[in-house]
Amino acid sequence: MTTSSASRAGLEGVVATSSAICYIDGARGVLAYAGHDIHDLAREAGFEEVCYLLWHRRLPSRAELGALKSDLAAARRLPEAMLRLMRSLPVGHPMDALRTLASALAHSDPEADDRSPAAAFRKAVRLTAQVGSVVATWGRLNAGGGVIEPDPALDHAANFLLLLTGERPSAPAARALDVALVLHADHELNASTFAARVTAATLSDIHSAAVAGIGALKGPLHGGANAEVMRMLLAMGRDADDARIDRVVRDMLARKVKVPGFGHRVYRTEDPRATHLRRMSKEIGERSGDTRWYDMSRRIEALMKAETKIDANVDFYSASTYYMLGIPIELFTPVFAVSRIAGWTAHVLEQYADNRLIRPRAEYIGPEHPQAFTPLDRR
Ligand SMILES: CC(C)(COP(=O)(O)OP(=O)(O)OC[C@H]1O[C@@H](n2cnc3c(N)ncnc32)[C@H](O)[C@@H]1OP(=O)(O)O)[C@@H](O)C(=O)NCCC(=O)NCCS
Repeated sequence: MTTSSASRAGLEGVVATSSAICYIDGARGVLAYAGHDIHDLAREAGFEEVCYLLWHRRLPSRAELGALKSDLAAARRLPEAMLRLMRSLPVGHPMDALRTLASALAHSDPEADDRSPAAAFRKAVRLTAQVGSVVATWGRLNAGGGVIEPDPALDHAANFLLLLTGERPSAPAARALDVALVLHADHELNASTFAARVTAATLSDIHSAAVAGIGALKGPLHGGANAEVMRMLLAMGRDADDARIDRVVRDMLARKVKVPGFGHRVYRTEDPRATHLRRMSKEIGERSGDTRWYDMSRRIEALMKAETKIDANVDFYSASTYYMLGIPIELFTPVFAVSRIAGWTAHVLEQYADNRLIRPRAEYIGPEHPQAFTPLDRR
């Protein structure tokens, strides 16, 4: 057995599969979905277009995009059984609720047992539509509101905000979330996508793979970081002066505590997604006449750069962006899943299309073999 790569901590730098979905050049800060640069997509494309791109590896025609939007709209309304289940769950972390509810979606899926590629694709579309509705409706119920009907005339991001707040969002707010969904939709073999692919490679179903992805995303080293960023900003206090901000960050660094929203396994320069989220955080702040969270974020970013040379990642400015969009902090990580479900399902479909069980080896470092066996009554 070869141990050189198997024993590499965190599988850093290990190429574990081939994929035609997402390209990252960490040294140059390049991210592209099926060859399309993330900067073009963030400026020009909407989330549904990106879903099509990830699933089909090409941009849709107007008719193809219209058909996908109709399919998503048709699947967005949650079955009554899901709403009942949602109401019966004890209050807890929304990622726990999402994990349970995404699993429960399989029970009401008409093609749950159909393993054909065509059915798997239709399930990918339904899951993408429904995960948005689940997260928004969960957020609304927990805030004491009633269930809102999706509006087929609105796109995915606008529907999310409608279902969450009960109000039709402004065009800038809907577009801001739309861009955030575009930016989060896929990121090659990140931890949650790897978990989803490993699950799919056993030929388990797409709902199980999505649940595996959700479980992996929850952790603070992955999708949980965006909520941690906002908690850090709030703990500093919106009235914090620069000296206090610097003190808090320096103290974290001195205690070897990771500052949330910084660092990346792959990027060695600015995460190209952070470029857009920084701009959006600034724009939303300026529009509302309150750039405090953006200004504080800039200060933290400058200090981190000066002290550690570590760049902000996708989670850093998504925190203030979501907060200013009125999204509750507990929903930040679930919102990541609302977008990443597109990438997870694209990877699962790719895995199914050319599958081999993913089963690596471990370098054994335990007690020497063989150990003498002492019967229980003599131990
Ligand atoms: C993303 C992350 C998990 C990558 O982890 P990794 O590739 O295993 O990198 P490491 O944790 O080994 O970090 C490498 C070095 O940078 C430092 N570093 C990395 N991220 C840091 C952060 N956010 N704050 C302070 N120092 C950091 C580490 O302390 C380490 O320094 P050392 O070599 O002196 O020990 C890590 O950067 C992190 O925990 N970031 C904060 C959480 C976060 O924002 N996650 C979202 C990622 S999109």
